[in-house]
Amino acid sequence: MINFEFANRVSDLHGSAIRAAFKALSRPGMISLAGGMPDPKTYPNRELSEIAARILAEKGVTALQYGITEGYAPLLEKTRARLKNAGIGNDKDSLIITSGGQQAIELVTKSLINEGDGVACENPSFIGALNAFRSYGARLYSVTVEEDGMDIEALDKTLSQNKNIKFIYTIPTFQNPSGITMSLDKRKRLLAVAKKHDVFILEDSPYWELRFAGENVPSIKSMDEDNRVLYVGSYSKTVSPGLRVGFLLGNEDLVEKAVVCKQVSDVHTSVLPQMMIDEFLSKYDIDERIKASAAINGKKCAFMHECMDRYFPDSVSRTHPEGGLFLWCDLGGDADSSAFAAACLDKNVAIVPGASAMPDPTQKTSAFRLNFSMASEAEIETGIKALGEIIKGYGR
Ligand SMILES: Cc1ncc(COP(=O)(O)O)c(C=O)c1O
Repeated sequence: MINFEFANRVSDLHGSAIRAAFKALSRPGMISLAGGMPDPKTYPNRELSEIAARILAEKGVTALQYGITEGYAPLLEKTRARLKNAGIGNDKDSLIITSGGQQAIELVTKSLINEGDGVACENPSFIGALNAFRSYGARLYSVTVEEDGMDIEALDKTLSQNKNIKFIYTIPTFQNPSGITMSLDKRKRLLAVAKKHDVFILEDSPYWELRFAGENVPSIKSMDEDNRVLYVGSYSKTVSPGLRVGFLLGNEDLVEKAVVCKQVSDVHTSVLPQMMIDEFLSKYDIDERIKASAAINGKKCAFMHECMDRYFPDSVSRTHPEGGLFLWCDLGGDADSSAFAAACLDKNVAIVPGASAMPDPTQKTSAFRLNFSMASEAEIETGIKALGEIIKGYGR
């Protein structure tokens, strides 16, 4: 038996509860309200299989050869144009393709964080990003997410008290896990606070196009006058998560360093998936498809709420997202949502306990995340009914 110790940077890292729940999902009759993917019925399987076959037949050498680290040029051009349409990015911003938005987050962290440097994070936040920060030895400073987004006054105070903070991490639109969207006023104040303390903002926005109600709120990046917002996007929630294509847009010098870091990580994002997305954007109206897929999510979200009206006691609070894939429930009191999630798994329903979304992993929470895009309406009803019975059992 080999004796070894993990590096300090990663010794306290734990796999996400979502990935752990994935393992249980193969059990017969299991209902998943845990995943973070769009409804698999909306994936463009047929279109992508034709596209892949054509690329390999006609441009096989390009697809199977090494590519450039910054990304496949035609896809970069189309991504830049799509971002420009949304008012995102200017001449001083560089754009690169990454292996999912996850890698963009990691590359920013790798480029900026020394051990002991700080990141101001929303509480709750996205486990993949929190773990990326932790894996480089960052100290996480938690800022509460209110009904209209991050508590900006608390953020200002946190930044005043902790000069080691290098950037603020936010998911302003249809936040993972809460489903909450930051108001326009708070976005403006967030920019002002970042400027006052001279730190970067890492704006992570893989869900913003999946709106099914309400009005669009401009991205923070679209209001960024001094290139302090690093913008992360992804084709995971709009085309396919398995293709692993995302992007990073921002400050030229930072992105140049991220390119070198990416060479160390994976040389470049696989060329074939980049070409597939590029062709998909050329041949199909992606915006129409996104709208259709968001409408399905919206219907399911409303149905999940109807089921919760029927089966949950009033004491359970919940968010009402206008898009994205998740909503956030709170059992209240001193309930522990990790024990609750384990009880749900015993009844064949997978949910994500809130603990994994806490910047402080020792923080106990009574909150949990539900995904409304993956399960069918029949599964949603069965699942929510089962959760309701477990919750009512707690009251007895
Ligand atoms: C907020 C957020 N950012 C980034 C990602 C990473 O997505 P991907 O790497 O698939 O683009 C996810 C995935 O769930 C997410 O929820």
